[in-house]
Amino acid sequence: MSETSRTGRTDGTADGDSPDGEVWIVGATGRVGRGVAARLAAQGLRVVPVGRSRERMTAAGAEAGLPPDVRTVVADSAERIADEVVRERPRVVVNTMGAYAATAPVIARACVSVGGHYVDQANDVAAVQGLLALHDEAARAGSTLVTGAGFGVLATEAVVAKLCEERPAPHRVRVDSVASVAVEAGALGVALATGIVDTLTSGGRRYANGRLVASRLGADPRRLVFPDGTSATSAGVASGELLAARAASGAPFVTAASSLAPASPFLRAVLPLLGRLLSVPALRRLAVDRLGRVTVKAAPRPREHSWGHAVVEWSDGTRREGWLRAGEGMAFTTDVTATVTGLLVRGAGRPGSWTPAAAFGHGLATTAGGTFVLD
Ligand SMILES: NC(=O)c1ccc[n+]([C@@H]2O[C@H](COP(=O)([O-])OP(=O)(O)OC[C@H]3O[C@@H](n4cnc5c(N)ncnc54)[C@H](OP(=O)(O)O)[C@@H]3O)[C@@H](O)[C@H]2O)c1
Repeated sequence: MSETSRTGRTDGTADGDSPDGEVWIVGATGRVGRGVAARLAAQGLRVVPVGRSRERMTAAGAEAGLPPDVRTVVADSAERIADEVVRERPRVVVNTMGAYAATAPVIARACVSVGGHYVDQANDVAAVQGLLALHDEAARAGSTLVTGAGFGVLATEAVVAKLCEERPAPHRVRVDSVASVAVEAGALGVALATGIVDTLTSGGRRYANGRLVASRLGADPRRLVFPDGTSATSAGVASGELLAARAASGAPFVTAASSLAPASPFLRAVLPLLGRLLSVPALRRLAVDRLGRVTVKAAPRPREHSWGHAVVEWSDGTRREGWLRAGEGMAFTTDVTATVTGLLVRGAGRPGSWTPAAAFGHGLATTAGGTFVLD
């Protein structure tokens, strides 16, 4: 149920064959959504918050610099949001509501059905695979879908793309994503809780001989020393970064690691059992609910920079290593999504379904505020 409705269009396309079409932000009261709304409003784009509570959206909108009488769309599930998209035909939908394996295809398909564009910050394997599977449908409709528009996927795939530029496909790639994130006081929230539980239940993944195979969560932990002299440990995890690194390199052997993966021997030992327990649907729901309600205290980011890292090796023994330096991880994610959205509003995206650097090139990472540090 939308607060206002507009005259139906007759050309069958999104409100957006004009560059001032609407940008809907699903989850505009959340951390990423608020930041994206503020950045897009500052660019003069027509931002429409979409979510469960008009009051919360209006309050968050005021903080983001939206006018007090901002148009909002009230809808409380991916299916209801999709219905509204089909009815009202926004130019771009930014999905920050999380639980992407379930919500992204539903909302993205609605965008495709009206020739609109779509962007989210998914970084789990199932969600990124699900969105990329809509490539042909999106291409036929002239829609651009971008998944993984956040720190993790872009900061790693951009380095891989840069290192592999104008070279044959390498033999082996490892990427590491080390986000430095400031903690906001308050409840952890369902979106983040879902992501944590999904990571624990899905175990690890890697590419071997070009095939996606299971591996242990927390496998192959490594201490990384960053170009600024600070350090952190990063270990194997199933992530959108893995899919993006494979697509950007074409390498048959690819691993992805993150500083968020459990690297301690004790945790790695109990993870398989914990993962099996959390696969039981009732226990999963309980865990997401409880974890989402956990309140945390505000804390500054642990390091000045977030780092994306890639090591690329060719069969002839050539080895290249590179980094992407970014600021606070959530702020970078917000900047990536806002940058991608701005490009989509202007019709700059190639039709199809992509990860961010696949859609716009590795230069997107610097446009969004990152800096390459290569050997
Ligand atoms: N790829 C990356 O590197 C990266 C980086 C950062 C974040 N992320 C992901 O991005 C997502 C957003 O993160 P966040 O920190 O902004 O999360 P958040 O603060 O919890 O915000 C979630 C938003 O979604 C809304 N929402 C939740 N369920 C909804 C429903 N059923 N219907 C309508 N709206 C609903 C919430 O609205 P209410 O006000 O109604 O609760 C809130 O506005 C998460 O999945 C996170 O894991 C990815």
